[in-house]
Amino acid sequence: MQHSAAESEANRADARRLAEAINAYQLSAAIGALARLGVADAVAAEPLHPDEIAKRVGADTGALGRLLEATHDLGLFSVDVDGRYGLTRAGELLRADARGSLRRLAIVSTDEWRWRAYGHLTHAVRTGEPGFVPAHGCSFWDYLESHPEAAASFQESMARISALRDAAFVRSYDVGALHRIVDVGGGDGSLLCAWLGAHPDARGLLFDRSNAIEVARKKIAAAELADRCELVAGDFFDSVPEGGDAYVLSWILHDWSDEKAHAILSNCRGAMGETARLLVIELVVPARDEASAADVTRMVRQTDLEMLGVVGGRERTAAELSQLLAQAGFRLDRIVPLVGTPWSVLDAAPT
Ligand SMILES: C[S@@+](CC[C@H](N)C(=O)[O-])C[C@H]1O[C@@H](n2cnc3c(N)ncnc32)[C@H](O)[C@@H]1O
Repeated sequence: MQHSAAESEANRADARRLAEAINAYQLSAAIGALARLGVADAVAAEPLHPDEIAKRVGADTGALGRLLEATHDLGLFSVDVDGRYGLTRAGELLRADARGSLRRLAIVSTDEWRWRAYGHLTHAVRTGEPGFVPAHGCSFWDYLESHPEAAASFQESMARISALRDAAFVRSYDVGALHRIVDVGGGDGSLLCAWLGAHPDARGLLFDRSNAIEVARKKIAAAELADRCELVAGDFFDSVPEGGDAYVLSWILHDWSDEKAHAILSNCRGAMGETARLLVIELVVPARDEASAADVTRMVRQTDLEMLGVVGGRERTAAELSQLLAQAGFRLDRIVPLVGTPWSVLDAAPT
C-alpha cells in the first residue's frame, strides 16, 4: 500500500516517540547518577569544566562528560563559551538542600532495589501481585523494615514530596476541637511537625512501623516538638492507638487493595470515639467525565503504576473512596482540595 508523504512523516514521528518512551529508563538512570554523584551541588557555587567536576564528585572524567552530554536536553546545566558547566533553575532541583529538592526522589526511584520491581511489571499485570514480591521475596514494607538505609532514604523522599502538601493541609484546617491528632502511617513526622508548629496547644501521636519511627524520632527532636509528640511503633493491621480527636491517613489507603484498606479503616474506626474525625489525604482520581488539570492526571496515572508495580495498592476516585469509607463505618462529609497541590482531604465522621 502506498503511503502519502504526510502519512510517512507521521509514522516516523510515532516511531520516534515510542522509541523515546521505550528508552526513557536510560534518562531516569542518568538523572539518578547525577543526583547520587552530587553534580548539581558541585557546580552550584561556580561553573566548572567536566574534569574539575569529575575530581570533586569522584568520577571518571570522560564518563562524566558523556553523562552531562546525555542529559543535555533536560536543561539542568548551562555551558559557557569556555565549556564550563553551570547550574540552571531546573538544575537547582537536584541540589541536596534546595527548596523542593528532587535529589532524594531521583536517588530512591533509581536505586537498584526499587528499580528491580519494574523488571517484574508484566508479572504484576498478569497476577495483580506487585512486581516487588518476585523481585525481593517480600513486600516493599517488609523490605524497608530490614533495610534501614533504604527506609531512611524512602522516608526522606516522601518528606520532600509532601512538604507543600503538609503546609496546605495545615492551612486548610482550623485547629478548633482537634487537639490531639493521631497520624496513622505518619512516616518521618513531616505532617505532625507542620501541624504542631502551627498549633502550640495541640498534641500529636505518630503511629508507624519501627523503621519510620526511628527516622521520625530524629526529625521531631530536631524540631523541638518531642514533648508534644508521642511516637508509637506498630502495625495498623493489628490495631491503631485510641484517644485522638482526629485520625489522619495521609497517602496510606492508596498503598493497599480494597480489602486491606478496609482493614485499616476498620481499625481506625475501632480506635475512634464518636466525635473524632477521620482525615484521609489522597490524590483523587478524576471521574471519566470530570475535567482536571493535566498535571494532576499525569501524577495520578504515574502513581497508580507505582502502586501496581511496587507496592500493591491503587489510586481511587471520590466515589470509590466514599464507598470504602462507608463500608468501614464512616460518612464522607466533604472533600477539600489542598490548593496548590494535587492532593485532597476527605473529611469523614463515624456513623
Ligand atoms: C506512602 S507512606 C506515607 C507517609 C506519610 N503519611 C505521608 O503522607 O507522607 C506510607 C507509610 O505507611 C507506613 N506503613 C506501611 N505499612 C504499615 C503498617 N502495617 N503499619 C503502620 N504503618 C505502616 C510506612 O512505613 C509509611 O511511612
